[in-house]
Amino acid sequence: MEIRVYRNEKEIGEAAGKIICSLVNEKPDCVLGFATGASPVPVYEYLTEQYNEGKVSFKDITTFNLDEYCELPKNHKNSYYTFMQENLFGKIDVNPEKINFLDGNADEATESKRYARAIEESGGIDIQILGIGRNGHIAFNEPGAEFTDEAWKVTLTQSTIDANSKYFDDIPMPRHAMTMGIGSIMKSKKIILIATGNAKAEAVKNMINGPVTPLCPASILQQHKDVIIMLDEAAANLL
Ligand code: GLP
Repeated sequence: MEIRVYRNEKEIGEAAGKIICSLVNEKPDCVLGFATGASPVPVYEYLTEQYNEGKVSFKDITTFNLDEYCELPKNHKNSYYTFMQENLFGKIDVNPEKINFLDGNADEATESKRYARAIEESGGIDIQILGIGRNGHIAFNEPGAEFTDEAWKVTLTQSTIDANSKYFDDIPMPRHAMTMGIGSIMKSKKIILIATGNAKAEAVKNMINGPVTPLCPASILQQHKDVIIMLDEAAANLL
């Protein structure tokens, strides 16, 4: 694990964004794995800026997102699909046909197989962006989850519901989500995990210094050969 500590979120966005842009410029048809949540937003801002300045084109990339809520229409304002449209895909020249999302309303077994096959057929994810939950979850793989390969349907924990309920002002937050499995995430060639703020410090400590255990799903990243952990000082506070 390579640990890098930055002064603020903007610097993290720029550092992660530069790695992505140089890959896209070298390999225009690369495969990028994206995450939702507040942590990767500065990265998406940097990518949008670079695109607007004509320094990079995303027209040939393929994308896979980590997760999606169940019990929510794809175009609902709180779906992760809408989040990505608003924060990145709607602002750059990515080909809509090359954007891949899990369908939170599909049959679990069929959808898992479809997603795993689509990732494999794309040649595999070159760079996967990750955030981390306060309880150490990655994507929606909550503590205690088996380290499974394929996408699966999870029941969200109270910690995750507490952290994300603020985004749901009109309907209750869904209690289930479809998520890429830890095994699929670990197959990514490179992983960049971003964590900022005090609320993540404990999870960051357990991920980096704790044992590899399903009780802290992010701890499995200790076994990945190319992972960069990008932190601000608050998130790095307990290291
Ligand atoms: C959700 C997402 C995760 C994300 C986490 C942290 O649970 N499924 O992929 O990492 O939130 O989000 P934030 O970056 O907003 O703290």
